[in-house]
Amino acid sequence: MVPDLTGTPIADLVSLKGRTAVVTGSAAGVGATIAERLAEAGANVVIADRDKDAAQAQADAMTARNWSALAVAADVTAPAEVAALADAAVERFGSLDIWVNNAGAYPSSPLMDITDAQWDRVLELNLRGTFTGAREAARRMIDAQRPGVIINISSTAAFTVGGGNAAHYVASKHGVAGLTKSLAVELGPLGIRALSVAPTLTETPGVAYKREAENLGDVLDDYGSQLPLGRIGRPDDIARVVLFAASDLAAFVTGVVLPVDGGDLAA
Ligand SMILES: NC(=O)c1ccc[n+]([C@@H]2O[C@H](COP(=O)([O-])OP(=O)(O)OC[C@H]3O[C@@H](n4cnc5c(N)ncnc54)[C@H](O)[C@@H]3O)[C@@H](O)[C@H]2O)c1
Repeated sequence: MVPDLTGTPIADLVSLKGRTAVVTGSAAGVGATIAERLAEAGANVVIADRDKDAAQAQADAMTARNWSALAVAADVTAPAEVAALADAAVERFGSLDIWVNNAGAYPSSPLMDITDAQWDRVLELNLRGTFTGAREAARRMIDAQRPGVIINISSTAAFTVGGGNAAHYVASKHGVAGLTKSLAVELGPLGIRALSVAPTLTETPGVAYKREAENLGDVLDDYGSQLPLGRIGRPDDIARVVLFAASDLAAFVTGVVLPVDGGDLAA
């Protein structure tokens, strides 16, 4: 049964001191900022990314700020690398308490043009990569008989299709929502929470690349100005909610998708 934290001071509820977090895809974008907020709250953070040099640079930059960070090269589409990543976290820091499945991609394509290979690539990364990360994290948490939390970064595409042209992406993020519920129900009795954080369009290197490659300049600017809160997301908008979800502030929250969307889904 989850402990009753009534009366615990707020500083203690937010603190992640003594806990270890793995964040996938954290060499850049939303993942890098999540890693920084978790480290600022006191966690040891593993910067896991398929881009080895960028992961090391991010870990070095965080260490220079006196935060505890370790870079591990891992591609979440390779299950053996995900298992090795989980082992590396436990070996270096002694425990694994928080796992953030953030690595993901969001290509666009009209439905009728999506090839089998493109479909498989998106599902393999966004959905199976999230499953593999959750399973490997949960195995270590269960082995250590410690409570833990798994956070899956999904998208407003877990709820809507937005402008369309991304059936594989939309299916993957809807899938992450279902996976998150399954994790919550099966792992809750073992003291492991699972929830999902769903950003709207957010300014990251991946979006900058897409803006350039698909000539989306005005479309993206208009998108932000039409949101109730007047702009698209910044990585720190997402990271602050992930910190909440990872911390004991959210000790009684599991199995839900938390939109972080400037009002996108409400409008
Ligand atoms: N940026 C947005 O507008 C937005 C909106 C909704 C949801 N999201 C979700 O947020 C997450 C992060 O998006 P972002 O915009 O920060 O991405 P990004 O492309 O800016 O950065 C992604 C990072 O993940 C790494 N990565 C990619 N594939 C990987 C793999 N197979 N294994 C390990 N690392 C890998 C990249 O090297 C990079 O460092 C994704 O799951 C995405 O679907 C983003």
